[in-house]
Amino acid sequence: MTAARVVVSADHEAASREAAEEFVRHVGPPSRQKVVRVVLSGGKTPTRLFQLLTEPYWRDRVDWRRVRFFWSDERPVPPTHPESNFRLAWELLLGPLGLGDEHVCRMRGEANDLDAAAREYEDAIAREFGIVAGITVPQFDLVLLGLGADGHTASLFPHTAALAETKRWVVANVIPQLGVTRLTLTYPVLNAARCVVFLATGEDKAAAVARVFDPYTRVDDAPARGVCPVSGELVWFLDRAAASQLSR
Ligand code: 6PG
Repeated sequence: MTAARVVVSADHEAASREAAEEFVRHVGPPSRQKVVRVVLSGGKTPTRLFQLLTEPYWRDRVDWRRVRFFWSDERPVPPTHPESNFRLAWELLLGPLGLGDEHVCRMRGEANDLDAAAREYEDAIAREFGIVAGITVPQFDLVLLGLGADGHTASLFPHTAALAETKRWVVANVIPQLGVTRLTLTYPVLNAARCVVFLATGEDKAAAVARVFDPYTRVDDAPARGVCPVSGELVWFLDRAAASQLSR
């Protein structure tokens, strides 16, 4: 596992503030890069992070005109659905920042054919990066991920087919545990990122965090353990509750 930088904060608010600082560190500074490409996680944990990024202290340190947003995964629902990962980010981050469609590359979770939607998203990523799918792997500047209590991240759930994917960037992953299929980025894309940031807080994530950091845990049993950036940074922002079962 790539040597991770682990930052343990007192509570969810403090961990979210640390993650907001890391976001600005990677996305904020003016650079020769015309476009900065960020992958947002789903779930509810990033709610406070998104709200913080719209507050002047953080908002005004990023040139949002350069930022384009992608998603790590999406549920099989329309973008207006309460469960939609896109909807949460749109309501709490993109909308308040006034960022329109030109900043967004949305996964079409509502598609009837999710395999086709996965390939469509791969093509959109390839166009965005000006590369050919299957030849080079896109290098996102920042990937934000969450952690499920079962050790999943994105929609890479324990013992599901997507864990074994080594070529495709996006797949429609059948998740028997949930009885659904979800679109998800795969390890090749996640591990090509310049920086991967996990944000996990709360007592309910403590066992999963401990398993992810346990060298004897198999990736199949805790898929977040399979996120090991090839050359990028790996940072975990935890609160004390989520870190409570971590040994030294
Ligand atoms: C999703 C996410 C998933 C999420 C974890 C944590 O679509 O559910 O992408 O990987 O990050 O399940 O979810 P919470 O933040 O809601 O605990």
